[in-house]
Amino acid sequence: EQSIRESLFITLNFAKDHFIENLWETDEGKSIGLSYFKERGFSEETIKRFDLGYALDQWQGLIDAAKTAGHKDEFLEQTGLKIVKEDKSYDRFRGRVVFPIHNITGKVIAFGARTLKSNEKGPKYINSPETELYTKSKILYGIFQAKNEIRNQENCYLVEGYTDVVSLSQAGITNVVASSGTSLTEDQIKLIQRYTKNVTVLFDGDKAGIKASMRGIDMMLTGGLNVKAVPFPEGEDPDSYSKQLGGEAFKKYLDNNAQDFIAFKTGIFLKDGGDDPIKKAESIREIVQSISLIPDPIQRTVYIQECSRLLHVDEETLISETNKLLLKNS
Ligand code: GTP
Ligand code: MN
Ligand code: MN
Ligand code: MN
Ligand code: MN
Repeated sequence: EQSIRESLFITLNFAKDHFIENLWETDEGKSIGLSYFKERGFSEETIKRFDLGYALDQWQGLIDAAKTAGHKDEFLEQTGLKIVKEDKSYDRFRGRVVFPIHNITGKVIAFGARTLKSNEKGPKYINSPETELYTKSKILYGIFQAKNEIRNQENCYLVEGYTDVVSLSQAGITNVVASSGTSLTEDQIKLIQRYTKNVTVLFDGDKAGIKASMRGIDMMLTGGLNVKAVPFPEGEDPDSYSKQLGGEAFKKYLDNNAQDFIAFKTGIFLKDGGDDPIKKAESIREIVQSISLIPDPIQRTVYIQECSRLLHVDEETLISETNKLLLKNS
C-alpha cells in the first residue's frame, strides 16, 4: 500500500520528467527554453545535472499529461502543481524554464520557475507553495548535488539564486547551495552544519544582497560556523561575474577576495561611511555586536585584534564593549 507521501514524490518526479521532456523533445521547449539556457551559457551537461526543464505555455499541459499517465488529480493539487480556483483548474507553471528542487536524497520536492520575458510586470520567479514535502525554510537549492563536495572540500559556498548555483557548478565550483532569495534560516544553517563548519558567502553585489549577507553572517556566527564572504562589484552576482571573468579567473577571484567576516563588514562600512566619526562609531558597534555572537572565546579574541587593527580602535575598548554585550546576552 502506497503512502500519500510516496504518491506525492511519484507525482513530482513525473512532473520533473515531463518538464525535461518538454525542454529536449518539443519544438516550443527547444526553441524557447533550451535556447534560453544556452544563451545564459549553460551547457547540456549542466542542464542535465540539475534536471532543468521547461513548462509549456499552456493552461493544462502538465495536468493533461498526468491524467494520460494515470496520475491522480489530488496529488497534482497537493504538490502545488495544479491550481484550483472556483470551478477552474490550471497548471501553476506555464511558459517558464523550470528548476527542480531536490531534497538531500535527490528526490524532487518542489520547483522554481523563471519567466523568459525580460520586461514583464509579473514575478521573475514562481515557486511551488509549501506542501507536506516542501518547507522552504528547511531546504537549500543544490544541496543534493553539492553535499559530497561540501564534505570533501570542507567548505560550502552560499549564494542567493538558482542560476548562481548552476553557473558556479559549471565553472567547477560544485560545493555550492542557494538560499533562493529568502533570508537564511536556522534550519538551513543546521543543514550546512551536517557537512561542514566552513561557509563562504557569495551574495549579490547590491543593497539587498549586502543586507542579507550581514544578517546571514551573524546567524552563522551564532551557530559557531567559520564564516567568510566575498564582495562582488555593484550590480554583479556570482552567475554574471563568473560568466564575465570565465571559470578559472573567477575561481582566482574567489580565492583572492575571500575575507573573514570582520574584514568583509569593515570593508563595507568603510566604503559607506568613509571617515565620518559617527558612522565609524556605528560600524564599530555593529562589528562588536557580531563578535559577541561567536561562542568560542579564543576566536573572539582573534577577531577583536583584527578589528582593532583595521579600524584603529584600541583593543581594551573593544574587549570591554564585547563583554558588555556578552553579559547582556547571557
Ligand atoms: P536571474 O535574473 O535569473 O539571474 O536570477 P537571480 O537568481 O540572479 O535573481 P535575484 O538575484 O533577483 O534573486 C535571487 C533568488 O531569489 C532567485 O534565484 C529566486 O530564488 C528568488 N527570487 C527572485 N525573484 C523572485 C520572485 O519574483 N519571486 C520569488 N518567489 N522568488 C524570487
Ligand atoms: Mn539579488
Ligand atoms: Mn542575483
Ligand atoms: Mn542573476
Ligand atoms: Mn548586526
